[in-house]
Amino acid sequence: MRAITVRQPEPGQTDELGRPLRPGPEALVVDQQPTPIPGPGEVLVKTVAAGINRADLLQRQGLYPPPPDTTDVIGLEAAGIVEQVGPGVTEWQPSDEVVALLSGGGYAEYFVAPAGQLVAPPEGTDLVTAATLLEVAATVVSNMDLVQLSPGETFLVHGGAGGIGTFAIQYAKALGCRVATTAGTDDKRAFCRDLGADIALDYHGDWVAGLRHATDDHGADVILDIMGAKYLGPNIDVLAADGRLVIIGMQGGVKGELNIGRLLNKRGLVTATSLRFRDSAQKSAIAARVAESVWPLVENGTITPAPIERFAFEDAAAAHARLASGEVTGKLVLTF
Ligand SMILES: NC(=O)c1ccc[n+]([C@@H]2O[C@H](COP(=O)([O-])OP(=O)(O)OC[C@H]3O[C@@H](n4cnc5c(N)ncnc54)[C@H](OP(=O)(O)O)[C@@H]3O)[C@@H](O)[C@H]2O)c1
Repeated sequence: MRAITVRQPEPGQTDELGRPLRPGPEALVVDQQPTPIPGPGEVLVKTVAAGINRADLLQRQGLYPPPPDTTDVIGLEAAGIVEQVGPGVTEWQPSDEVVALLSGGGYAEYFVAPAGQLVAPPEGTDLVTAATLLEVAATVVSNMDLVQLSPGETFLVHGGAGGIGTFAIQYAKALGCRVATTAGTDDKRAFCRDLGADIALDYHGDWVAGLRHATDDHGADVILDIMGAKYLGPNIDVLAADGRLVIIGMQGGVKGELNIGRLLNKRGLVTATSLRFRDSAQKSAIAARVAESVWPLVENGTITPAPIERFAFEDAAAAHARLASGEVTGKLVLTF
């Protein structure tokens, strides 16, 4: 089968600052690989589309290696048609349409996944669109379950126009929350308001003061953070009493300073999670939860899939360059 692989730099190659060279988008090349064989409890799927996630850019650069025993082909989510089932699989059969939550392997003509990590797409949603939904939905829902986001609470998600943000805004609105978000341009903030955000703040400005003002000093009961170190202090500043901060991204670095005094005055909770490093049983339970509780919201129009930019899978390099540009609103997808 054809798969996208990462061409590694020559040993000793460095950038202009003398640091080891990290593979850029142009390092993504189409290669031949053996088609995977489904083992017991696994399913072989012919890929129709693979969602692109920011984590994929990090994996390409060697900064986010896959978990042990996982293919090094990039791709955390994909949709396609069941080709073959392994021993013991009873819930799927060839020609079924499926969407998969993967630890890797989506950027290829075929992928293998444990049967439980597959779900049927939402009714009325084509497979290309479905390929962009499961990873963000699984991430947001599992974390909001963890911190028990509840109706009436104020919810802040950073990066409202991105993959995680576009879903999180709509999901929190559907739960009955007041939703605040941050975004980098007027257009993106307007887009976030159209999705349902009550408060859309410019992250280039003083969003801490903006949120305090907009919430009469209450702040946010729950924060879903993608920035990590850079926003640890400001997030604690805007956390409401008994607030919960969930960190899922490190776009602003990995080492921050925590003001414990401010946190304990607020009885605040700080946690951090990774979906990719959960085991298959947990991923399967989360995928099932999404199919049960989120797909009906997609089917009845409460949640609208984010705008999608499509790239042929041979153009994975252009797709990565596009996501890295920071100009994308919504999701990118590779089609096969
Ligand atoms: N831990 C997990 O399980 C898990 C799962 C999925 C994703 N993630 C992480 O979540 C993050 C988002 O993923 P994604 O796929 O949604 O990426 P994405 O679609 O590329 O979105 C990135 C977002 O970051 C925003 N951003 C950039 N600089 C910012 C700043 N200074 N302040 C606030 N927002 C800023 C961008 O806003 P503008 O477009 O307005 O510039 C954009 O909305 C990534 O770090 C990813 O690794 C973690």
